Amino acid sequence: MEYFGDRTWSTLSTSLLTLLVLWVAYIFVGMVEKFLITPMRLKRIMNRQGVQGPSAPLFVGNMPEVIRLQKASEEKDMKTGDYDIVARILPYHIQNCQAYVGDYMTNVTSDIIAKTAFGSSYKKGKKVLEQLFALVNLTNQRNKQRFATIPGYSIIPMPLNIKIILTKLAVSKSLGEIIQSRKDMVKGDNNAYGNDLLGFMLNAAMEEIAIEGGKVHFGMQSLIDNCKTFFLAGQETTSTLLTWTMMLLASHTTWQERAREEVIEVCGHKDHPIDANMFRKFKTLDMILNETLRLFSIVPVQNRQTLMDVHLGELHIPKGLALYFPRLAIHHDPTLWGEDVHEFKPERFVDGIAKATKHPLALMPFSFGPRFCVGQGFALDEAKSILVVILQ
Ligand SMILES: *[C@@H]1O[C@H](CO)[C@@H](O)[C@H](O)[C@H]1NC(C)=O
Ligand SMILES: *[C@@H]1O[C@H](CO)[C@@H](O)[C@H](O)[C@H]1NC(C)=O
Ligand SMILES: *[C@@H]1O[C@H](CO)[C@@H](O)[C@H](O)[C@H]1NC(C)=O
Repeated sequence: MEYFGDRTWSTLSTSLLTLLVLWVAYIFVGMVEKFLITPMRLKRIMNRQGVQGPSAPLFVGNMPEVIRLQKASEEKDMKTGDYDIVARILPYHIQNCQAYVGDYMTNVTSDIIAKTAFGSSYKKGKKVLEQLFALVNLTNQRNKQRFATIPGYSIIPMPLNIKIILTKLAVSKSLGEIIQSRKDMVKGDNNAYGNDLLGFMLNAAMEEIAIEGGKVHFGMQSLIDNCKTFFLAGQETTSTLLTWTMMLLASHTTWQERAREEVIEVCGHKDHPIDANMFRKFKTLDMILNETLRLFSIVPVQNRQTLMDVHLGELHIPKGLALYFPRLAIHHDPTLWGEDVHEFKPERFVDGIAKATKHPLALMPFSFGPRFCVGQGFALDEAKSILVVILQ
């Protein structure tokens, strides 16, 4: 007690208090910069160039309005056979198809992605997928909450937030175990990680990757994050595409017959072994898939943020501006596709994309440019394999 006299205590608590105040001030300034000053500055730059937008409340921006619209739109029923879904889907993410076929497709695509990504560790991979689904479900629940858009809300220790954090930890733990056991298995032999996606990533992780301004190492956290991305991006998307394709073929039986004829011509009857080279010969099935991807764009909106100032035509787009590409709306634009835009008409693709629409980029289900969807080929081949088996 000699050491820590009253004066020491009070000095100590004063410094602690000062630290605390400084910390709070630091966080506050950061928030003001991020959620107030930056959005105002970006808005001013765009306004000056004649690009106006809806007024947004301070701090939270337009998100509460987007969520409100989403909710209102979700409450309305849609007529079957009416594919004018822009108004319904665009304010928010893809609607879940809850039909039985949806469950079935979820199971099939889960199996496939778990096998592709984790091969021998397939069973454990499926467990991770279940945890990831739970995480998505919890996050969706939170996004529907009233105060979800308030910055910092997600770190307040509320029951749902705690659940989300625990589920995230569980996902990382499971993935970490799979990765570690694979590493232990092949200790000392860098090229023997297996020929599944995880194996490729582990091989890559052993090399340093040269990037601008230095080298990076693909650490454990990057591995875990990439596994999550491939799992989620590679599963739900394809199962949704398949669900819509099945639904459209079920209600347009002429196209179903034409697809079946083609499949049998190219791949033979039931139980005939199929290989991916056959898929290059499909024409009708390609038209059907393109028309499905157009009508029910799996990813209806794409968000991007500029990393540097760019000039687009007359427009100066400042660094840091959030851009929003309403892909689904472009796919449903009658000025690009004609008045029958909301109808299921695979025949519009009979002479390829160029003849189907007035703009070469009017169809971009997988985006375009150097950052187009890395899984495009995989997703389409997967969808075709499943459709072939079902149609046979
Ligand atoms: C999907 O898989 C789960 C668990 O493996 C099973 O309980 C469910 O019945 C399956 N659903 C369908 C439609 O096959
Ligand atoms: C998501 O969670 C809710 C509430 O726990 C549950 O009712 C619902 O069935 C879950 N949905 C899925 C797809 O797991
Ligand atoms: C389907 O769309 C892709 C581009 O997304 C295109 O390369 C392909 O030629 C299209 N197929 C048909 C039959 O229109």
